Amino acid sequence: MKTNDQWWKKSVVYQIYPRSFNDSNGDGIGDIQGIIEKLDYLKLLGVDVIWLSPIYDSPNDDNGYDIRDYQTIMDEFGTTADFDQMLEEIHKRDMKLVMDLVVNHTSDEHEWFVQSKKSKDNPYRDYYIWREGNKGKEPNNWGSFFSGSAWDYDETTNEYYLHLFSKKQPDLNWENPKLREEVYDMMKYWLDKGIDGFRMDVINMISKQPGLPDGVLGEGQLHGDGSPFFMNGPRIHEFLQEMNQEVLSKYPIMTVGEMPGTTPDDAILYTNPDRNEVNMIFTFEHMDLDSAPGGKWNLKPLNLVELKENQTKWQTALHNKGWNSLYWNNHDQPRIVSRFGNDKEYRVKSAKMLAACLHFMQGTPYIYQGEEIGMTNVAFTSLEDYRDIETINMYHERKLLGFTHEEIMTSIYAKGRDNARTPVQWDDSQHGGFTSGTPWIKTNPRYKEINVKSALEDPQSIFYFYQKLISLRKEMDIIVEGDFQLLAKNHPTLFAYERKWKNESLLVLCNFSANELVLEEELTSRIPEYKVLLSNYEAGNTAVLRPYEAVVLKK
Ligand code: NOJ
Repeated sequence: MKTNDQWWKKSVVYQIYPRSFNDSNGDGIGDIQGIIEKLDYLKLLGVDVIWLSPIYDSPNDDNGYDIRDYQTIMDEFGTTADFDQMLEEIHKRDMKLVMDLVVNHTSDEHEWFVQSKKSKDNPYRDYYIWREGNKGKEPNNWGSFFSGSAWDYDETTNEYYLHLFSKKQPDLNWENPKLREEVYDMMKYWLDKGIDGFRMDVINMISKQPGLPDGVLGEGQLHGDGSPFFMNGPRIHEFLQEMNQEVLSKYPIMTVGEMPGTTPDDAILYTNPDRNEVNMIFTFEHMDLDSAPGGKWNLKPLNLVELKENQTKWQTALHNKGWNSLYWNNHDQPRIVSRFGNDKEYRVKSAKMLAACLHFMQGTPYIYQGEEIGMTNVAFTSLEDYRDIETINMYHERKLLGFTHEEIMTSIYAKGRDNARTPVQWDDSQHGGFTSGTPWIKTNPRYKEINVKSALEDPQSIFYFYQKLISLRKEMDIIVEGDFQLLAKNHPTLFAYERKWKNESLLVLCNFSANELVLEEELTSRIPEYKVLLSNYEAGNTAVLRPYEAVVLKK
């Protein structure tokens, strides 16, 4: 179905990480009935689309990103009947549902892999990537994203299989047309149920370079970096175009590809509507700016000038050529108010400033559960309280490399994925009202102060600021269509930009610091032509921005 209705351009998406969202039955784990209970809350916020992280049957090595059966619902989350009810309830409220599509890998407990392991001539052998060892060692030097080698040895057939993530997440072999067909059939199963799209997990990694060459071995690293040979690989566009032709084009849906390691040029190839691949992608450059060489655990303070340069590059490159997705948060990232804002005395102000800064750009904004109430990072003192496989494996690897406990915990506090995965804080009762049982991961101790109930009672809360941002996007075409120009490029704490469309203009001024900021003449001289559209402070002197102030002006 070719449709000119690009409804997703005007939409705002809310991401639910089901395990941590809302528990309806007291087992300590969020579930589908828990989601249904909160749909009116999401409707009140005003979002159009819900992206649901995986809810499929899984042994939960990576919280559902290791799928055992694509067409069964995880027991802990509910049943197919619960799913059908949820979809109906979402549609009844005039919202849409986008599901996670995880097809770079499955669980090692998926029937395909169980078969594949059995023998070299099993019909499912080629569903996965098997290789002989190289002189008694792994076939190449690639490291896994979750520490250790990307290969695991299997005794039965004396070969290794590739797993870019945990060893319980074997990579699928997209070179095999039969596998591709099975994936497309599975996608149709969900689309025929009436879902409204897919968020595609690490989808730019499905095409591996034949020969699987060794990657560069960085200083102090135990494994090579294979990413040039599996990110944006040789057949990636062909595979996506085939998927589009076989499946996506037949439904009026939205698609977003998670694509680490992409540049704006890549993004145009993926998202230009004439190329029939996906509607938009998640890129990562802005999430890497506070990492030093060697990866995300090596901390470095954010340089705002770099963030501005980066956002400007994406905003201008994709304008009229592709489409951006806008995000600060998801289930893999630390909480933005703790990361680029100030989660202490300016938590509310800085959360709103960050929201405004992002939501006035061009693209489809994504809000991650709890972001709308300004949830913050956590710092559990013991590793025992952490649940994420990436964090736990990294801890042990760094211990072996000689890092101290304190050094490793400092990285975890800043970047660990569990920062995003503590339960949503619904009220100030025990466990933040998430469960009547014991939560699978501890609740952030700040739940008494930061929770949905108190946000809803306070007209000045972050929640209502997000609500306003969402409604403005619906009212003002300039937010969707306008072009983007960065102002005061080299200012170290001011993020200022202008959007223009037809004869309208928006001026967005954001103070990324706890200090007052005196605007330069170049900006203040223009302000009299404008009217204030939105601000996170009471009206004041627009020539001086207060700590973490955001002002949006309109002409
Ligand atoms: C990206 C997902 O967002 C992340 O949570 C997961 O661990 C990996 N892909 C592997 O599926």
